[in-house]
Amino acid sequence: MQETKAIAEIRKAVKAWKQEGKTIGLVPTMGFLHEGHASLIKKCREDNDVVVVSDFVNPVQFGPAEDLEAYPRDFGRDSALCESLGVDMIFHPEPAEMYNDPHITVQVDTLNETLCGVTRPVHFGGVCTVVAKLFNIVSPDRAYFGEKDAQQLAIVKKMVIDLNFDITIVGCPIVREADGLARSSRNTYLNPEERQAALCLSRAVKKGQAVIGAGVEGETVLAPMRQEIEAEPLATIDYVQMVDALTMQPVARADGPVLVAMAVVVGKTRLIDNFSWSQDR
Ligand code: PAF
Repeated sequence: MQETKAIAEIRKAVKAWKQEGKTIGLVPTMGFLHEGHASLIKKCREDNDVVVVSDFVNPVQFGPAEDLEAYPRDFGRDSALCESLGVDMIFHPEPAEMYNDPHITVQVDTLNETLCGVTRPVHFGGVCTVVAKLFNIVSPDRAYFGEKDAQQLAIVKKMVIDLNFDITIVGCPIVREADGLARSSRNTYLNPEERQAALCLSRAVKKGQAVIGAGVEGETVLAPMRQEIEAEPLATIDYVQMVDALTMQPVARADGPVLVAMAVVVGKTRLIDNFSWSQDR
């Protein structure tokens, strides 16, 4: 496995792979890799001749009061995991390699105005900026994102259409711990009591999945989910919402494909979870 911090080096490798007619898959990550990332890498390995993983804690997707400094990092462990999964190249740039100061950013449209975009107003612009840069640096045929970050996935898919990237975006299912908690690098912030309390998110998902169906009103789905979370003293709801799966705008009932998503603060840690529903699923 090759490791590089330099854009010029990765471009050289990409040029050679393209000349050999190889397909390239990219898994963008912020490192501190877990089973969720491993599932993306495995799918990418199956689908492509070459697998590139980026490992970069992207400063521009964090708001001023967010956890940029505290965000967990362990490049040695990430690198060993990537090697064991057959990754060809890991791209681990410094912020100065990625960003000029000042720099142009990608601006997101109305998909940004609901769910996480409300409490994290700079987040998705920062995500799209780094993802667009990674797409231009790596020129992948396919790129892999987790469905846990469902709004991010919807926005990246829209960006690829709107900015004409010739890249297939592949969404991969949420990976959960044995007890149901969705895998996240931020789970590491939870103390044992909070870790237990955090199970209210996946229990709420199950409650919602049990009642959703064609034409069912949003509140019929969301009320039992809220109840489940409100019963947990260490948990505070940021949002629990049903939105159109493509536009991310709130919907009153499940008529077409919908996303039911939540953000919940457990202790001081903000966690997200969701499920998608459509008639033909
Ligand atoms: O999902 C993430 O880890 C990040 O938002 C991403 C897509 C790697 C961009 O920094």
